[in-house]
Amino acid sequence: MKVIGKRSHSSRLWLHRQQKDHYVLLAKESGYRSRAVFKLMEIDAKFHLIKNAKCVIDLGAAPGGWSQLLAQRSGENARIAAIDLLEFPAISGVKIFNGNFENEEIQMKIMEYLGQKADLVAADMASAASGHAQTDHLRQINLAKGAYSFAKNALKEGGSFVTKVFHGGKEVELLRDLRKSFGSARFFKPKSSRAMSAEIYIVAIGFKECS
Ligand SMILES: C[S@@+](CC[C@H](N)C(=O)[O-])C[C@H]1O[C@@H](n2cnc3c(N)ncnc32)[C@H](O)[C@@H]1O
Repeated sequence: MKVIGKRSHSSRLWLHRQQKDHYVLLAKESGYRSRAVFKLMEIDAKFHLIKNAKCVIDLGAAPGGWSQLLAQRSGENARIAAIDLLEFPAISGVKIFNGNFENEEIQMKIMEYLGQKADLVAADMASAASGHAQTDHLRQINLAKGAYSFAKNALKEGGSFVTKVFHGGKEVELLRDLRKSFGSARFFKPKSSRAMSAEIYIVAIGFKECS
């Protein structure tokens, strides 16, 4: 009973915060499906990853804010493959795959759809929060490492990779690993990412296929 009470209290707080959140309102007004879209906008304003990307993979795409922006900015002939565990409504110019991105069959289908290696792999994935910071940190690192393994097979020479991590210690090791495979890799905390949140992104540019 206590747990249920606690959960409903925290979900009430979440709902209250969402209703007042500037980016939630802005997303609604602008026709975007999530406030997360503003994080990708900030990443793109700083690193210019989308405009010249003709093949893009969006990992953990539901409800679709990042995919909407990718479709708007990557041009008419771009191919965008979006995947999520959850089903979500279609987006013009985006091919949606439903399932776990770690499933090799799905990875093959994504690559078949793209028809060539990707210019950009963008991963905003997250699992449901456990409420225990270190557990959530380690889970998130595992997701990011899985995304990195996929990106190493999926990216073309010079391609870019974005992944979400949570502070907690291991993100520094992952950044170090990424620096071996990319010309540059750095942390980036968008202003639209809540200051209280442990969330931060790694942006890696200039993939080296032979790394
Ligand atoms: C923060 S949401 C993504 C929001 C999205 N970027 C947007 O702009 O709407 C994180 C998503 O990651 C998905 N996810 C978590 N683990 C996954 C996995 N192993 N494979 C595919 N999707 C996953 C979740 O289902 C969830 O929808």
